Amino acid sequence: MAASDPMLRLEGKVAIITGAASGIGEATARLFAAHGARVVIADVQDELGEAVAASIGLQTCSYKHCDVTDEKQVEETVGFTLEKYGSLDIMHSNAGVAGPVEGVMDLDLNKLDRTLAVNVRGTAAAVKHARVDYMHGKRRGAAGWWAVATPLLLCGLDGVTTEEVEDQCGEMATLKGVVLKAGNVAQGALFLASDASSISVAMTWSLMAAALWP
Ligand SMILES: NC(=O)c1ccc[n+]([C@@H]2O[C@H](COP(=O)([O-])OP(=O)(O)OC[C@H]3O[C@@H](n4cnc5c(N)ncnc54)[C@H](O)[C@@H]3O)[C@@H](O)[C@H]2O)c1
Repeated sequence: MAASDPMLRLEGKVAIITGAASGIGEATARLFAAHGARVVIADVQDELGEAVAASIGLQTCSYKHCDVTDEKQVEETVGFTLEKYGSLDIMHSNAGVAGPVEGVMDLDLNKLDRTLAVNVRGTAAAVKHARVDYMHGKRRGAAGWWAVATPLLLCGLDGVTTEEVEDQCGEMATLKGVVLKAGNVAQGALFLASDASSISVAMTWSLMAAALWP
């Protein structure tokens, strides 16, 4: 169904965004809701997630505890969404943790396992349980980006400010003179999730969203 108001690019859509209690996911939840979507924030940070959902508005946004490494919790989150909103149009697999940064000789394999469990297996579980038979059609989008100074990037950098990280990333980036913010990545997710990208059947956009919708 096309949005009746072109400014509301996700009117009538229902989205799950994993990892939306913070950072890029939070910015995306706010943007999707502002564009008319009903949004389920699925995260492990319960207090933060509840607060983000409340600040967006509980008539359009809900929080559901969901550890994406636990397939059952992902399945339950989809069930929760279908029961509460009656459909599921967009699965935005955004939850992630920072991977090991040390060289291979010092690699902590337990940390690697954890990273793969959240970032890779968690995405597979999200896409699996979004189940295209809940939806009338399907498209997929994937986005990758350079660096955004979120808690993920700042963790472990004691005493380093957001501005310092942004300056450093800016120096290494191809596109000079702009600072990439969570809201910029959210705009990319909005494009992939909306009918604006409807002519594409599969798309990789330089973000990390998986979107499936009619
Ligand atoms: N910030 C960057 O520069 C950057 C670069 C490349 C990729 N990414 C990816 O972007 C995504 C968003 O990251 P961000 O930068 O906003 O970081 P962030 O730390 O602000 O947000 C990540 C969210 O994922 C949640 N999360 C972690 N483990 C989870 C789990 N097992 N189940 C459910 N939720 C879980 C966290 O609680 C947090 O709310 C991640 O997938 C990350 O890997 C970020």
